[in-house]
Amino acid sequence: MKLAVIGSGYVGLVTGAGFSDFGNHVTCVDIDQGRIERLRRGEIPFFEPGLPELVQRNAKGGRLVFTTDTAEAMRDTDVVFLAVGTPSRPDGAADLSYIVEAARAVGRALGPGTVVVTKSTVPVGTGDLVRETIAQVTTQPFFVASNPEFLKEGDAVNDFLKPARVIIGANDPSALDVLRRLYAGFLRTSDRVQVMDLRSAELTKYAANAMLATRISFMNELAALADKLGADIEKVRKGIGSDPRIGAKFLFPGVGFGGSCFPKDLRALRDMGRSNGIPLGVIEATVDANDRSKRRFAARIVDHFGGSLAGKRIAIWGLAFKPETDDIREAPALDVIAHLRAAGAQVAGFDPIAADNVRAQIGDQLEIVDDPYAAAEGADAVVLITEWHQLRQPDFARLRKVVRTPVLFDGRNVWDPVEASRKGFQYIGIGRPPVSAGD
Ligand SMILES: NC(=O)c1ccc[n+]([C@@H]2O[C@H](COP(=O)([O-])OP(=O)(O)OC[C@H]3O[C@@H](n4cnc5c(N)ncnc54)[C@H](O)[C@@H]3O)[C@@H](O)[C@H]2O)c1
Repeated sequence: MKLAVIGSGYVGLVTGAGFSDFGNHVTCVDIDQGRIERLRRGEIPFFEPGLPELVQRNAKGGRLVFTTDTAEAMRDTDVVFLAVGTPSRPDGAADLSYIVEAARAVGRALGPGTVVVTKSTVPVGTGDLVRETIAQVTTQPFFVASNPEFLKEGDAVNDFLKPARVIIGANDPSALDVLRRLYAGFLRTSDRVQVMDLRSAELTKYAANAMLATRISFMNELAALADKLGADIEKVRKGIGSDPRIGAKFLFPGVGFGGSCFPKDLRALRDMGRSNGIPLGVIEATVDANDRSKRRFAARIVDHFGGSLAGKRIAIWGLAFKPETDDIREAPALDVIAHLRAAGAQVAGFDPIAADNVRAQIGDQLEIVDDPYAAAEGADAVVLITEWHQLRQPDFARLRKVVRTPVLFDGRNVWDPVEASRKGFQYIGIGRPPVSAGD
């Protein structure tokens, strides 16, 4: 088939490259000229494991091309995916201006029978908005469908090529047939397509993210209680995770969730509830609990030093919102850094991949170092925020030699408190009893 993908970010580029790998001809569009030029040169504008190979292979094969011109991309196109951003507006609702603009550009250039598919995460009812927007600028017949994306940054290629399920929201049988054929190659072992109406498909995406985020906030709140009561949340986590009704995934307590999806999608869902007069108390609480988690973690560090960090140097290990990505949108590290600086700290940060993005956004607010031990040089505390593999089992003996004060704040509970203590560190995790040096 001939496809167009509007928006060549994390989702659009993976989508375009993934479909082209199955023999479709895909044109990826972006309004960012610099991004398209880089893609034409074979450069990937962000870090995503496996994506460079996938893009380069298909670009070389002539199946994947890039343009800034939506009209050109729409020529003879059977299916067009909208994969533009849907960021938060100041009131928390999803900003649909990119979707509307993309739909209008698509509408002006579409041929008869084109299927327009929303891949972006969009509030319930956006399918109707897309249909109306396009109908205002064309007289051609067309179809609108929803196909929300569930990929995870850091494992996006795998998720896209081997999806756990494909949700298709389509009211028209021929649109559904086209999308089924498009996904057939991905789903040879079992048909994991779930077909539903457009509105249910739109809501499914928010429901999935909200459920995952709620599990995290739930654990973070219990971790705070465990802390207070002298219980160990890691034991509680295993205790509940082994119940098959609960399951072990997404129960890790930590600093709080961030990224380009959970925070904004929860705010958008909260807005859908508020504006429809349906109280979504769990969602409201999940958002609030996450803000508290990040503040609580930073406050713990400040309190440890008696309420002020003036003259203290704090090393932050891991700045991306999670491992295996360079994405720092709403990264918890950024909040923690802001709190520590407000208490007077001087901050040194290390991240194996996201350093350039942090430098571009807040480079004046911290020293960014390209080695974790160099970041810890002279530090009064080493704080783990993003559990990159290479930071999970540090050389504590080496670390002990470079720090000024041997204190560890493990924001992901990945370090071994006993090992850290043996090497002379005071260990403070999330919801687990702190361990003094040499205990
Ligand atoms: N990033 C994820 O992990 C993920 C996962 C699932 C769903 N989503 C959803 O997918 C959507 C896209 O997210 P993303 O992370 O890929 O965003 P992104 O910011 O990485 O990419 C969006 C791209 O769209 C481009 N764009 C904006 N308006 C355009 C237009 N009119 N024409 C052409 N290009 C345009 C931007 O320049 C940008 O490059 C969002 O709704 C998001 O919630 C994201």
